[in-house]
Amino acid sequence: MGMFESLTVLLTGATGGFGKEAARRFYAEGANLVLSDLRDEPLKAFAGEFDSARVATLAGSVDQESVAADQVALAVERFGRLDVAINNAGVANAMKKLPEISAEEARHVIDIDLMGVFYALKHQLPVMEKQFRETGRGGSIVNVASAAGVSGAPGISVYAAAKHGVVGLTKAAALEYVRRGIRVNALCPAFSRTPMVMTMLERDMAATGASMAEVEANLTRGIPARRLGEVSEIVEALIFAASPANGFYTGQTVQVDGGMTAI
Ligand SMILES: NC(=O)c1ccc[n+]([C@@H]2O[C@H](COP(=O)([O-])OP(=O)(O)OC[C@H]3O[C@@H](n4cnc5c(N)ncnc54)[C@H](O)[C@@H]3O)[C@@H](O)[C@H]2O)c1
Repeated sequence: MGMFESLTVLLTGATGGFGKEAARRFYAEGANLVLSDLRDEPLKAFAGEFDSARVATLAGSVDQESVAADQVALAVERFGRLDVAINNAGVANAMKKLPEISAEEARHVIDIDLMGVFYALKHQLPVMEKQFRETGRGGSIVNVASAAGVSGAPGISVYAAAKHGVVGLTKAAALEYVRRGIRVNALCPAFSRTPMVMTMLERDMAATGASMAEVEANLTRGIPARRLGEVSEIVEALIFAASPANGFYTGQTVQVDGGMTAI
């Protein structure tokens, strides 16, 4: 029997680097999936990997509260419950110093990375609490923050602010619901090999004329391991935090960062 056998897992940013790997892992461990991301076409194409009886999709932007409500409603309608929510969708601001970031870009990042998680929690917590009252089983939520959510991150200040906010929401929600059957944790990876980071590196190569090896070495010089995280390494920690076997673990930041925040 899988670790998430017959549990319903809702995953945002489902067609991104962490999202795809996480969906595959939860599915392999027996979960039913509710997959959400911005665009319908890639979502449907990805969902085609799985048995259609065990997957549902919903396209929409996480900065819209109605999308968070619809995701939860879909989980309940299709699979009867919501057991695990992985609030993973996110964007980074383009690397630049704080005064160079426009108010518009800052608001865009905060709307998606911080307000998106706020809307998600606002709609996920009451459903999980109701399940706990009725069945004795609540749920587990993992918000994908960042190492930039627990330490300063030069060049991505607004992203760091949003991710610090996600850690704040996580801890407060964990404490509000710790005796109501719900665990809430924040995953805090350092730079990892996903499309988000590869796009950042390609932009850096174009701007500087440096090679991929050079821009990668530059990006990872603050990471004691001196390398990017691999997607599977990050998702391993995500699974650990979400697992129902891990019932005493809540309100934590799960740092997966090659030693970066140990300095
Ligand atoms: N890759 C890293 O190094 C790293 C490090 C720390 C934290 N993170 C966080 O991990 C999460 C996943 O990122 P990733 O690295 O897999 O990047 P990614 O770009 O591969 O995936 C992000 C996904 O989020 C989706 N998304 C973006 N805006 C959205 C919106 N408004 N509504 C719905 N979906 C939206 C994208 O379509 C994409 O599928 C993000 O929250 C990111 O901030 C990533």
